[in-house]
Amino acid sequence: MNLFIDTAEVAEIREAQSWGILDGVTTNPSLVAKTGRDFESVLREICSIVDGPISAEVVSTDAPGMVEEGARLARLHRNVVVECPVTPEGLKATRSLTGRGHRVNVTLVFSAAQALLAAKAGAAFISPFVGRLDDVGHDGMDVVGQILEMLDHYTYPAEVLVASVRSPVHVIRAAQMGAHGATCPFAVLQQLVKHPLTDVGLERFLADWKKAKH
Ligand code: E4P
Repeated sequence: MNLFIDTAEVAEIREAQSWGILDGVTTNPSLVAKTGRDFESVLREICSIVDGPISAEVVSTDAPGMVEEGARLARLHRNVVVECPVTPEGLKATRSLTGRGHRVNVTLVFSAAQALLAAKAGAAFISPFVGRLDDVGHDGMDVVGQILEMLDHYTYPAEVLVASVRSPVHVIRAAQMGAHGATCPFAVLQQLVKHPLTDVGLERFLADWKKAKH
């Protein structure tokens, strides 16, 4: 089970990386905009922190533009994975970028149908957005189940990277289903490690240790 962090904040990435559990990073235009920094310099810095797939999204909406932008991003570092939306233009760009040897994360996936097309276009990663599906009254994890079941019959190289994760429950369900990975905001990674009984237990151990003679 791969755990990615879904942020462009380098301080969060450094901290998560120091825990020794991080396999990669995903960003998106909203997350990069929030940093107020130049995209390429943030991307370079992220690549210097984590040695794993780093998703960087294109903002062009036409295939030639996406391909040009994606190829430029991919040239920045060998770990850059180009993120393309699952639109007809995005599928064209995915096919073209994978043909040139670049890895593509097909993003904004909300259905098994979209995931099938992404796999056929050569995606290295497929990102179903579970939290946003939950927000509109669906069960996002049901879609993940459908995608995994579907891909299990074939040999597409695509990995299912559960995205738009809002809580540890999404991550655990993803792992139980055998999803290849989940990308989590830093807050969710913190929630994953935290348990009140761990805190109370540790406090008690330390208090008992202080009382004892040694
Ligand atoms: C994935 O690449 C996206 O950045 C993502 O997970 C978006 O999640 P959100 O719905 O919390 O914005």
